Amino acid sequence: MVKIVIENLAQKELSYKGSPNSILQLVQSNFIDWMHACGGKGRCTTCKMIVVKGMENLSPPTAAEMKYLIDGQLAENERLACQTRAQGNCRVRIPDENKMPHMIYTS
Ligand code: FES
Repeated sequence: MVKIVIENLAQKELSYKGSPNSILQLVQSNFIDWMHACGGKGRCTTCKMIVVKGMENLSPPTAAEMKYLIDGQLAENERLACQTRAQGNCRVRIPDENKMPHMIYTS
C-alpha cells in the first residue's frame, strides 16, 4: 500500500495498491480539486507540488519536467502532479501560488 500525504490539506492521506497512476489522477479520483490548467499534459506548472518527503519514491522527472527544472520554473524539491507517479510513500504540499480560492488549506 502506497500512501501520499498532502500536508496542507489537513494531512489528507491518499492510498492505493497496484500500479500507480499520476498523482493528479489519484487526487482527482479522491474528489480533491487541484489546479491543472493544461489538462495534465505537462504544458503548464499549475499542478506543481512541493515534495516534503519521499522524493526517492517518485518516478523520474519526465521530459516536460526537465524543461521546467532547467528554466527554473520547477525547483529541485518540486514536481508536477500530472507527470509524477509515486512508487512508495511521500509527503507533499501545494504551493501558495497554486492554491484554489474555494479550497481551505491548512498550515
Ligand atoms: S496540469 Fe499542466 S503541467 Fe500538470
